[in-house]
Amino acid sequence: MRLLEAFSGTAIQLPNRIAMAPMTRGRADDTTGVPHPRTAEYYAQRASAGLIVSEGVWVDRTGKSGPGIPGLVTEQQTSAWREVTRAVHEQGGQIFAQLWHAGRVSHPGVTGRTPVAPSAVRQAGRIFSAEGWTDTVEPRALSEDEIGEVVQDFAAAARRAVEAGFDGVELHGANGYLIQEFLAGNTNRRADRYGGSVTGRLAFPLEVVAAVTDQIGAARVALRISPGNPENDIVEDDWKEVYSRLLAELRRYELAYLHVIDTPDAEALSHLRPLWPGTLVANLRSEDPTSSGEGESLIESGLADVVAFGRLFIANPDLPARFALQAPLAQADRDVYYGARLDGYTDFPAFEPDSAKSACSACS
Ligand SMILES: Cc1cc2nc3c(=O)[nH]c(=O)nc-3n(C[C@H](O)[C@H](O)[C@H](O)COP(=O)(O)O)c2cc1C
Repeated sequence: MRLLEAFSGTAIQLPNRIAMAPMTRGRADDTTGVPHPRTAEYYAQRASAGLIVSEGVWVDRTGKSGPGIPGLVTEQQTSAWREVTRAVHEQGGQIFAQLWHAGRVSHPGVTGRTPVAPSAVRQAGRIFSAEGWTDTVEPRALSEDEIGEVVQDFAAAARRAVEAGFDGVELHGANGYLIQEFLAGNTNRRADRYGGSVTGRLAFPLEVVAAVTDQIGAARVALRISPGNPENDIVEDDWKEVYSRLLAELRRYELAYLHVIDTPDAEALSHLRPLWPGTLVANLRSEDPTSSGEGESLIESGLADVVAFGRLFIANPDLPARFALQAPLAQADRDVYYGARLDGYTDFPAFEPDSAKSACSACS
């Protein structure tokens, strides 16, 4: 199985080509933003992934998207993450922190603040806040000075990530949050140097990459993108031009990897892979979780070097071993994905061949 082969890139060396995709689980202390005491155990259980990308971690409280999401801003948060990275390293794993600013996909009910965005364009739909599903609010457009401050927030969080023992950081440029809000024409209506043209729309994402690579070195920096992904009310009809230009600018850095979210038709990957000579991690976005068969095809076709699996890792902490054994896969109830509950977090057992039937009542 190609997914189980080791991978050696310019910056990262992995024992297999299976990454754990970043997944928010909502278990952090909602007041302090400190990860839950069991978070170290949760990630250590999953350390057989070639690479773990942590759940999205806010770089500033205004960029916190929902209840129970951890931060990487305070000393207390940094210490708690140090326990997490130590536990993963003890199990032989590697872990990047996903640095996240949610932009307009936030709510005063979550942060106590008005969300910020490139422009004051409200997101259609509803958002999950402390009071449950609630109407979105109109964000406040960031001033040029404030944009510079957010760039520095990313750089400071990257420095803290290294202090906390992370092997690197993945900048969250996907799924309709702040970085993608600058890239997309429907959310970026600015007329200054951060908007207007494709060049302007690229300015903030590129400033973040420049500041973060300057802070911790490009070999420890990755970027996640989701070209054309309509999630969180994004419209990117011109994604081919925008992301081709973005990659042309990024090629000057030897980033740890580029992480591309695509749909199973792999249109974005087919377009962007020839433009990206560096390491490419792919993840598919569809109704069903990315499967081992889809992962194998992505590696076989050369569209990806490494494949990120999300939902399958929730209930299968030992996913690479299960792929190797073609063992049954356990299913997690969607109710446990998020929330301040302890069931459905560290209580999914590893597969035991001898007691497959009794240990795996949730398997299909
Ligand atoms: C519970 C849950 C939380 C997620 N949180 C994040 C996140 O914090 N950052 C991110 O970039 N993507 C997040 N995603 C998206 C996943 O990384 C991944 O793209 C998606 O689950 C599709 O991959 P899969 O089919 O392998 O699950 C989340 C997905 C799920 C199911």
